[in-house]
Amino acid sequence: MADYRKSKELYERAVKVIPGGVSSPVRAFKAVGGDPVFMDYGAGPIIVDVDDNTYVDLCGAWGPLILGQCPPEILLSLARSSTSGITFGTGSSAEVELAERIVEKVKPVEKVRFVSSGTEAVMSAIRVARGYTGRDKIIKFDGCYHGHADYLLVNAGSGLATFGTPSSAGVPEDFARNTLVAELDDENAVQQLFDEHGYDIAAVIIEPIPANNGLLIQRPEYLTFLRNITKKYESLLIFDEVITGFRVGWGGAAEMYEIEPDLMTFGKVIGGGMPVGAFGGRHEIMDILAPNGPVYQAGTLSGNPVTMAAGLATLDVIERENSYSHLEKLGAFFERRLIEEFADYDADVVRVGSIVWLSFQEERPRRASQIRKSGIDKYNSIHRAVLNEGVYLPPSGYEVMFISTEHTEELLDDAAQVIGAEL
Ligand SMILES: Cc1ncc(COP(=O)(O)O)c(C=O)c1O
Repeated sequence: MADYRKSKELYERAVKVIPGGVSSPVRAFKAVGGDPVFMDYGAGPIIVDVDDNTYVDLCGAWGPLILGQCPPEILLSLARSSTSGITFGTGSSAEVELAERIVEKVKPVEKVRFVSSGTEAVMSAIRVARGYTGRDKIIKFDGCYHGHADYLLVNAGSGLATFGTPSSAGVPEDFARNTLVAELDDENAVQQLFDEHGYDIAAVIIEPIPANNGLLIQRPEYLTFLRNITKKYESLLIFDEVITGFRVGWGGAAEMYEIEPDLMTFGKVIGGGMPVGAFGGRHEIMDILAPNGPVYQAGTLSGNPVTMAAGLATLDVIERENSYSHLEKLGAFFERRLIEEFADYDADVVRVGSIVWLSFQEERPRRASQIRKSGIDKYNSIHRAVLNEGVYLPPSGYEVMFISTEHTEELLDDAAQVIGAEL
């Protein structure tokens, strides 16, 4: 049994000074039970906690670490850029270069602006959509997460497709009023909302590959339907690609599904592990932003040169190493091994490239409401045992795993075996 003494001590200190002892709730291990572990260092696919327990990292810091921990190129870029100036509050060459790179790689994006988190990216994209269309309402989907802005912390109310109700205390009902919520994978629900509110709807926002509530892979026709109906009503389609952007391929899910959304949001991978977000789209939409237009948006640390350098270094390595095909091979290997381990169980492996979800139910869900609690309970029940064996899974059955380029077939084989042994 692993020793977690120092983690426990840190947690006891943390809960006294940080609500729940963590800076983001899921880190507290509430879903899986037991105290959280505190990490000390990492290298490639391995992370080591403060008690010197070593783990194969299958959480990947929730997505940014596509090259694993501490890739030398990123460390070098961080050292170079930070010793030249940590932040200027002005433009920098790294910022221009990263913007150029994103515009070059992501077809629907002609202009992009940087912020410091995915939440900010989505919040700003929605403000742009509202400013551009002169409309207030948005449609979001049950089971998609878009960060913690007030009007996005909204669940479906009663009924299939309806006005939202706040899903967090502290969010006024009034803020949720302009958020309409539909189930994923249901054309009728969206049609109904457009029938009722059509020309009041500024935007439909979706994670095109929803990866925050399990991995709810959508039918291509459904995403095409969203593209068509938004066009028809002259509202904007926003693809939230904070997870999938530069993770599933250069052009993200938009390229994968060959759909051009009006706006896209990014985060995670494009910052190389530094705090980042970005949003972009066609120039006539993006030019509504101040100072060109009337939509205000700003940030002291937006486009921070150190972050931009880390993002650029990440994209450089991906390009040089042809990482997406490597990640696909690793992902396919891991999927195959897990399926072997799951042969005797009601379990499934849902995967897009290097994003993998363990689903302990037979039918593959496309909607949040199709995820069975018993499956989530099953995942949560094995988490600690798997941790004790040196595999760091995300601490909730609703969360996906991320593989990095530094994972090897050998490590993934071991991890699959450890998971299989605990079922
Ligand atoms: C799809 C999506 N959008 C937005 C966010 C919010 O990003 P951040 O946590 O950087 O604010 C996340 C975070 O996981 C996300 O997965």
